[in-house]
Amino acid sequence: TGAFTYDPGFTSTASCWSKLTYIDGDQGILLHRGYPIDQLAEQSSFMEVAYLLLNGELPGKAELETFTNTITRHTMLHEQLSTFYRGFRRDAHPMAIMCGVVGALSAFYHDSTDINDPQQRVIASHRLIAKMPTIAAMAYKYSVGQPFVYPDNTLSYTANFLKMTFSVPAEEYVPDPVIVDAMDKIFILHADHEQNASTSTVRLAGSSGANPFACIAAGIACLWGPAHGGANEAALNMLREIGTPDRIPEYIARAKNKDDPFRLMGFGHRVYKNFDPRAKVLSKAASDVLDRLGISDPVLDTARELEQIALKDQYFIDKKLYPNVDFYSGVILSAIGFPTTMFTVLFALARTVGWVAQWNEMISDPEQKIGRPRQLYTGPTQRDYVPVAQR
Ligand code: CMC
Repeated sequence: TGAFTYDPGFTSTASCWSKLTYIDGDQGILLHRGYPIDQLAEQSSFMEVAYLLLNGELPGKAELETFTNTITRHTMLHEQLSTFYRGFRRDAHPMAIMCGVVGALSAFYHDSTDINDPQQRVIASHRLIAKMPTIAAMAYKYSVGQPFVYPDNTLSYTANFLKMTFSVPAEEYVPDPVIVDAMDKIFILHADHEQNASTSTVRLAGSSGANPFACIAAGIACLWGPAHGGANEAALNMLREIGTPDRIPEYIARAKNKDDPFRLMGFGHRVYKNFDPRAKVLSKAASDVLDRLGISDPVLDTARELEQIALKDQYFIDKKLYPNVDFYSGVILSAIGFPTTMFTVLFALARTVGWVAQWNEMISDPEQKIGRPRQLYTGPTQRDYVPVAQR
């Protein structure tokens, strides 16, 4: 039993080979298929990044058009799924709904669950990427009691998502290009992040040969936690609770107090011991977007001030705690009009691209085996059963 390496939280175990995403946590570098994340966020589109992650190269013009058309063609959800939504409480958290609905897709698409058939894997991947915006928007519509809005396939991936979320019948909806750009950037920044907890969950679930829709539902469940994707919701709630910059020292003191479980949400990372490069892009984008939308939100001032104070504090310096992707995204999402409960749903929508690409990479890997960690047993040694009357 002592033959295994004890590695809680897998801080030093590589579970796979991967060609998708490279992170240098000390330098704060993130590359997708070799391309720096800031270049992709500033110059590319989410559809291009999705193609890149899935196929290994940036698409040519015709390839991008074909890929975008294929994704667009799969945006509809089976009509019967709307009854599934209606089974949820009105105030259900949209992540709970998303977990259930994505898992349920496996019951609707039997023709794309044979994981050994590469063609079926491609169709399942396209279906997942295409249907996530529809699923997310429907979860939102359900929570606010508005009718579901069908996809508009004349729009881009991101504009269509915004329309399904924010348009109401009988009113013309014209997507604001500033918001479409900001949303697309946020999607790019969340598309993949190598073997984080939810991606590892998708790979582990998929390693048994489970169908892809169920595997992605498992990833969504894992992402929901506040130490992972749920941190964007928690970070904005924290910033709102702090309210004004004068209350920051109180929260910094709590974060440093060993007896207080409170942590600064949106701060710290398992891999980055330097600036999270995604947070850098989002920090700048937050100011740009709010300026361009003419919104002034005191939460952004609180965030900036909190960042400054934390970065100068010895505790955060010693532990190398920097803002992560979840620190500034909420400020932008809130300016766009999303309630905090939708933040992690948007993360899941974008990360589906990474999950699907990683799942495909794993299934095609000839060295792939079922994931099966071992343990160091610390329970009782063998003993004999005693009937209940004698205990
Ligand atoms: N505030 C205060 N102290 C912190 C924080 C924080 N946000 N993050 C880490 N620490 C301390 C922690 O108490 C520990 O101290 P000590 O060594 O004295 O026990 C030390 O720093 C190392 O922390 P850890 O929990 O051992 O590190 P980890 O790699 O297991 O955890 C983390 C990484 C992201 C879970 C953690 O930094 C955290 O809980 N951050 C807040 C939640 C958050 O923002 N999560 C989003 C992560 S990035 C995007 C994503 O994955 O979705």
